[in-house]
Amino acid sequence: MIATLCPAWSIPGYLEVRDDHLTVNGVDTLELVKEFNSPLFVFSENRIRDNISRLQRAAEAVDRPIKFCYASKANSNMAILRVVLDSGIDIEVNSGGELFKALRVGFRPDQIIFNGTSKSDDEIDDAVRAGIYAINVDSIYEIELVEQSVERLRARGEQVPAARITLRLVPEIGTRSHLGLQTALLTSKFGISSSEVLAAFRRGLERPDLIKVCGIHIHVGSQTPDVEPFAEAFRSMWEHLVTIHRETGHTLEHINLGGGIPVNYLRDRSQADQLPEHERDMLGAELEPTDVLREALRVARDSARAADAEHLLDQVTILLEPGRSVIADAGLVLTTVRNIKSRPETGDVWLLTDAGYNIMLSMNNYKWYYHLISASRAGAPYARDYKVAGPLCDSGDVYFDIEREGRLPDYRRLPENVGPGEVLALLNCGAYSLAQMFHYNGRPLPAAVLVRKDGSVTLIRRRDTYEDLITHDLGF
Ligand SMILES: Cc1ncc(COP(=O)(O)O)c(C=O)c1O
Repeated sequence: MIATLCPAWSIPGYLEVRDDHLTVNGVDTLELVKEFNSPLFVFSENRIRDNISRLQRAAEAVDRPIKFCYASKANSNMAILRVVLDSGIDIEVNSGGELFKALRVGFRPDQIIFNGTSKSDDEIDDAVRAGIYAINVDSIYEIELVEQSVERLRARGEQVPAARITLRLVPEIGTRSHLGLQTALLTSKFGISSSEVLAAFRRGLERPDLIKVCGIHIHVGSQTPDVEPFAEAFRSMWEHLVTIHRETGHTLEHINLGGGIPVNYLRDRSQADQLPEHERDMLGAELEPTDVLREALRVARDSARAADAEHLLDQVTILLEPGRSVIADAGLVLTTVRNIKSRPETGDVWLLTDAGYNIMLSMNNYKWYYHLISASRAGAPYARDYKVAGPLCDSGDVYFDIEREGRLPDYRRLPENVGPGEVLALLNCGAYSLAQMFHYNGRPLPAAVLVRKDGSVTLIRRRDTYEDLITHDLGF
């Protein structure tokens, strides 16, 4: 087989057209559907590794100690976590469950940071017991919860060291992403307000036998298309760090700049002009991690010079929590057209697939654009517009904006004569999709496969059986 065409969505060596079929690292996606059924998630180990290497190169370019903690909320399948671990970066978790997975797959405790607004005592106990790199506390109240956890465990005779904590701040920095994905606004539920930072640090420093305040954290939000919010966030964290040092004498080890490096969902721009301008700018963002780090450091350096505090900047480790930029374009969904109908009144042809919003929640929540192609005829001209919808029982399960706000194209452009049996592919679905799936309408969740770097294919999530649908139901 030879690669024949290079459509705009293709990525040489990874996503290609061969013999008119979509291939992932040379593996024919139609063969995958034959073997593993549809819908099917397909991930590429090479692409994950390439994405991580891109981040690591950014760290080399700025020549600073940078700790990358993969945001496992984006996709915490165990085989994916294993690839991330093997690639040599660390991990961010957002629950006791993700902490459990991170430890189980083999991350060392000093590679783990734990975020979250509503941690339970049990979750904090697990983190304290494991002795992780940092628990990112989300309020002044939570400082007390971590102290109590250390005391509780010690009272039970467990030998736990002082817990390392980082304070998460919310300095009111806007981005051009969806409001639901912006997290540094005072209207967001996250973090400690700037006006309370000093009090929070003083509180954190009260019991050094129980907790050690080691850092300061911010996450401006996901899919942040511009460099400025990152730079502004870093400057803000940096200035807090200097103030804390000046006021308390305490030197923080790290500034955590969170995640949010964007992914270009519009590599193929054939339908981009049908999106509103702000969506287009956000979804089509091309932001190099090197530029983010360079600009953040430049702004901090200027501020450090002004504050005569460059020695502090030289001691700081920078943490980043990339999720989407590691896994989004390393995964796609294969879906089969199961039904077709025409609407003579509107002239529309409807394609009904087997992939609904229960496996791609963002398409419904945020009207997220996943570029749709034909995997069966990946090289054919895209000449016909179709209404496309999933299999679920409500009208919102469509690949366009049912609320008529135009946030998605009304039609998807595919080859002529698409019909039942044709396999389609939704690209860039690796982040926040598999991790957010649910069993609506009694639909067994799909399988996922990973194309390995040696070209072999591993099943990394088995398809649910009907028995799986009822394993947690009791009393019947
Ligand atoms: C605290 C925190 N860190 C990191 C991330 C990962 O963001 P992204 O996947 O955009 O890199 C998120 C997700 O929104 C988050 O809430």
